[in-house]
Amino acid sequence: MSSKSKGGLEDVIVTSSAICNLNEKTNTVEIRGYDLLDLAKYSSFEEVCYLLWYKRLPSAKELTEFTQTLANHRQIPTGMIELIKRLPKTSTMDSLRTWVSALAAYDSEPNNTSTEATLRRITKITAVMPTIAATAYRISQRQEAVQPDPCLSHAQNFLHMILGKEVSTSLSRAFEKSLVLYSEHELNASTFSARVITSTLSDVYSAITAAIGTLKAPLHGGANEEAMKLLLAIESPKNAEKYVRLLLAEKRRVMGFGHRIYKLGDPRTKLMKQISEEIGEETGQLRWHKICEQVEETVGAEKKLFPNLDFYSAPAYYCLGIPTDLYTPIFASSRVCGWSAHILEQFQSNRLIRPRTTYVGPSGLTYVPLCERH
Ligand code: ACO
Repeated sequence: MSSKSKGGLEDVIVTSSAICNLNEKTNTVEIRGYDLLDLAKYSSFEEVCYLLWYKRLPSAKELTEFTQTLANHRQIPTGMIELIKRLPKTSTMDSLRTWVSALAAYDSEPNNTSTEATLRRITKITAVMPTIAATAYRISQRQEAVQPDPCLSHAQNFLHMILGKEVSTSLSRAFEKSLVLYSEHELNASTFSARVITSTLSDVYSAITAAIGTLKAPLHGGANEEAMKLLLAIESPKNAEKYVRLLLAEKRRVMGFGHRIYKLGDPRTKLMKQISEEIGEETGQLRWHKICEQVEETVGAEKKLFPNLDFYSAPAYYCLGIPTDLYTPIFASSRVCGWSAHILEQFQSNRLIRPRTTYVGPSGLTYVPLCERH
């Protein structure tokens, strides 16, 4: 890092990658060459997962087989549910981090870093993370866990395990689009964590556990939960402008706004906003979407900041009846397929990631023995 660094590794190129192309000039995101918005509109979550890991879109037969394989791996290992019940009450995101880490104990060869072994492992982890998140949440609420249903798609099953009921095809498809939008986004903080851990030739569980720990906080994936808390506090569109102006006057951040890369708006937001409106209309709860629009207008006028993907996912998930505590675990359960693609890529052409700092501390001090110090 040069002494002129803006900090936060801003604009620093850390590695080459063939996974995700963020172009802030054209305001587009491509996954292995395909527009992310097209993938969200036309692909299933499973199809995007396949594209990320196998570097090309699957044939119909490959997709059917892959979808079934993921569905077959949704069960939490025997015995783990009892352990989940014994953990003192914590957030679902902390639970998810703990139990993904614990999955290593159920793997007979967790340190095998071959591509085949890594693919088997990321398939299991991606398949089971929604079950862990939904189960941990329901147990924390003293509700019965809902068994995964292998006949449902990844997205339908996830909603079914959270809500304990079926939802309309249009709602589950809207939810699936949000999962695709969340699935991969270049070298964001959590993906960087996963790559750093992998670069030491550590195991996949450690890399994904670290990524979950990085994602959970408010400046990254935790922003969707914080955004919903803001909407709940605002309560009504008519309160939004005053509330936000006060917040900004106190120099506080509006969660779900701003982005390190996109200074002219997050290209994923347009579709997420549309999804939020559709879900709001179908569920008769457009109020939350309308509050968002007011907040967007005020933050734009006051700070010239735009909403990122996390902002409109909050009202969308709220209207689906998803508890706030699950928003970031949902993000993690989707982003795991992007983390996994980066872990595979890192293993396939690895070099230890070991950056430098510019030293700004004291130098050449004379050591004073303890008995002579005041
Ligand atoms: N609300 C109010 N002001 C903001 C916000 C915000 N959400 N975001 C940035 N700013 C302001 C800062 O206060 C700062 O102003 P100043 O120069 O007057 O001090 C200026 O914009 C630059 O902010 P930085 O923190 O330097 O920008 P950076 O690129 O490091 O931050 C980040 C990006 C962390 C996303 C930031 O915009 C933020 O905190 N947003 C809120 C959290 C959030 O939504 N995170 C989700 C990220 S996207 C995702 O994970 C899907």
